[in-house]
Amino acid sequence: MVRPGMRALTERRGLLFGGDYNPEQWPEQVWREDAELMRAAGVNLVTVGVFSWARLEPEPGKHDFGWLDRVLDLMAGHDIAVDLAVPTASPPPWLGHRWPETLPVDEGGHRLWYGSRNQFCPSSGPYRERSQSITTALAERYADHPALAMWHVGNEYGEVCHCDVSAEAFRGWLRARYGDLATLNEAWGTTFWSQGYGDWAEVVPPRRAPYIINPTQRLDWWRFCSDELRAHFREQRDILRAHTPDIPVTTNFMGFFKRVDYWSWAADQDVISNDCYPEPGNPLTPARTALTHDLMRGLAGGRPWLLMEQATSAVNWRAHNLPKPPGQLRLESLQAVARGADGLCYFQWRASRFGAERFHAAMVPHAGPDTRLHAEVRAHGQELRGLAEVAGEPVPARVAMVFGWESWWALEDRGRPSDRLNAVDQLLDYYVPFFERGVSVDVVPPGADLSAYALVVVPNLFLLGDRDAAALTAYVQGGGVLVVGPFSGVVDENSHVRTGRFPVPLREVLGASGEEWLPAGQPVRCRWSGGLDFEAHTWTELLRADGAEVVAEFAEGDLAGRPAILRHRSGAGVAWYVGTMPEPAALASLAGRALADAGVRGPLPDLPAGVEAVRRGTVLFLLNHGATTVRVPIPKPGVDLLTGARAEGHVTLTPRAVAALRQEVPAA
Ligand code: GAL
Ligand code: ZN
Repeated sequence: MVRPGMRALTERRGLLFGGDYNPEQWPEQVWREDAELMRAAGVNLVTVGVFSWARLEPEPGKHDFGWLDRVLDLMAGHDIAVDLAVPTASPPPWLGHRWPETLPVDEGGHRLWYGSRNQFCPSSGPYRERSQSITTALAERYADHPALAMWHVGNEYGEVCHCDVSAEAFRGWLRARYGDLATLNEAWGTTFWSQGYGDWAEVVPPRRAPYIINPTQRLDWWRFCSDELRAHFREQRDILRAHTPDIPVTTNFMGFFKRVDYWSWAADQDVISNDCYPEPGNPLTPARTALTHDLMRGLAGGRPWLLMEQATSAVNWRAHNLPKPPGQLRLESLQAVARGADGLCYFQWRASRFGAERFHAAMVPHAGPDTRLHAEVRAHGQELRGLAEVAGEPVPARVAMVFGWESWWALEDRGRPSDRLNAVDQLLDYYVPFFERGVSVDVVPPGADLSAYALVVVPNLFLLGDRDAAALTAYVQGGGVLVVGPFSGVVDENSHVRTGRFPVPLREVLGASGEEWLPAGQPVRCRWSGGLDFEAHTWTELLRADGAEVVAEFAEGDLAGRPAILRHRSGAGVAWYVGTMPEPAALASLAGRALADAGVRGPLPDLPAGVEAVRRGTVLFLLNHGATTVRVPIPKPGVDLLTGARAEGHVTLTPRAVAALRQEVPAA
C-alpha cells in the first residue's frame, strides 16, 4: 500500500506554514486570539501536544482530553491542520516516581531525574507500555477528527541509557547480530587487552571505564541505541497507522545528529521532517544549513520534506543568543523551500512566559502581535502563498556526496591518529565549493544507487564495507567521476583495519595507494602540477601513484615531491584521491576540475560571492547571504514569484533579499 506523504498535506494547502503550538501553557481566552492571529498570518499547520503527557494523563490510565478536544475543534474551525503529537518525549513525573527504572542511567551509572524532559530509558518495559497506552488513547479519540492531518511521534529522538535493562536489550541485539559469543569475540577483537567474553551476562554497554573502550563495542552500541529508539518509534507508528491508515506519521530529525542513523530511520517515515537552528554569526552557516537541507532531501528520497522547527529569532540554549536581524527569518525559511521543503514551521507559536524556554523566540513574542517580529512572520506566511506552485517540485542534482552514520561513529572515537579529521567537517569542506558555484548536490548513503550522478564525492568514509566499495568502483568503471577524501576505506564493518596498502578496497580504482597516515603539525605547502602552490593542513599521507597521474604534490618537508592529489582514468570514468586537507581555494579548484571531468555546470556562470543559487522545478532561487547589495546576471528572463516583477538580464539583491524566478520557457 502506498503511504500518504507530504502530498497529502500540501495538496489542498500549498506550502505549509506554522509551528509548535502549546496551548496548555495559556488560558483558554488566549486560544481564541491565537486562532485569529494564525489565520491572519497564513498559518495552516500547527503541532500540538508534544509536551502534554502530564496534562493528558494526570494519573496512570486516567485521561483528560477535554481541553485537547477544544483545541482541535478550534483549529478545525479556523481551517488549520493539526500535526498531533504522541507525547512520549517527556513523561510525567508519575512515571519516574512510580517506576524509577524508567529513568535513564548515564555511562557513569548515575540515574537522571525528572524536572526537565527526555527522562526515559528507551528499553524500559513500563515506559514502552505507557507510551503505547497513551498513543492508543490518542489514536482512538482523534482518528476521525477533521483537524488531524499528521501524527508526530515523540520529539527529537536521541536518548541513550546504560542501565541493566538496557544492557539486557543490548545483549539481545548482539545475539541477533552475531549468534554466538565466539563470533562476537571475533568481531570485537577481544583478544586485545584480555577482553574475551565467556558468558553473555558479562557483556555490557560501554560504561565508564578506566581507559579507552573497545571501539567495536562502542560502534555496536551506537548501532544498538539507534535501533532501540527506532523500535520505540515504530511501536507508536504502527498503532497510529492501524487507526488512521491515511494519516502520515513522522518524527522530527535534527540534521547531522550523531546518535541516530537517519538513513535507517528514513524508510519508516511517511514524511521526513527536521528541526534546524542555524548558528548565527558563522560565515559557514549558509552552506552548512544548505547541506543539512540537502541531507533531508536525500532522506526523503528526493521528495519534499518538512522543516518542522526553526526559530524566528534568538534561541535560548546557546551561551550568547544572537537574534536574527530583520529579513533573516524569511531568508532562512526560503532557503529551505529552495532545497525541497514544502513546509516551514517554527518552534514555537507563542513565546512561553514560564519554563526553561521562556527566552526562546516565537512567532508571537512576549511583546505581542503588535511588533516588528510578528509583522515579519505574518508577511512571510502570506508571501508563501505565492510560492504554492513549487510544492512537490524536485531539486535536480547531478552531483552526489556520500555520508554514512556508521562511518561517522567508527571514525570519531578515541584513539585515532587525529581527532581533527571529522566526518561532518570533511563533508562540509567538500560541499562548500559546490554551494558557492550554485551546483546542487544530493546527499546519499553508502551503497546508494549512483547511476543518476555524473560526479560522486566521498569526503570521508573511514568505514567502508566491501559491497559499498565495489559499488563505487563499478560506478567509475561505468563512466562516473569519483572523488575520495583522506582516511577513507580504512576499516571494515567491524572497525578492523584493512591490512595492505591503503585504501585497500579502492586502491585499484584510484590507481594509487598509501602506507602511512601522517597528521601534520603545521600547514604544508603543496604544488599543482601546473606550478601553482596551495596550502594543506592537519593531515598528510605517504602515497604512491600506481597508474594514476599526480595532480598535486607536497612541496616541502619529508613528503616533498610525493603525491598529495591523484587522478586516475579507470574503465570509462575517472577517480580522484586526495591524501590531505587542502585549503578552501584549493578544494574549490579541485571541485572545478572534477566538475569539468563530469561535464557538470551550475545554473549561473558568474555567481557573486555570498549568493546561493538553487533550481527547484522551473524556479531559480537566488538568496543573498552577503552583507552587500549584489547584481546577479541571469541567463534567462523570469518572473519573481515573491514580487510579481519580471527580471531580465540580471536581478539586484540587497542583503538578505531573495528572488524566486519562474523561468520563462524560451519562445519557440
Ligand atoms: C528543539 C525542540 C523543541 C524546543 C526547541 C528550542 O530541539 O524540539 O521542543 O526545545 O528545540 O530551540
Ligand atoms: Zn535503561
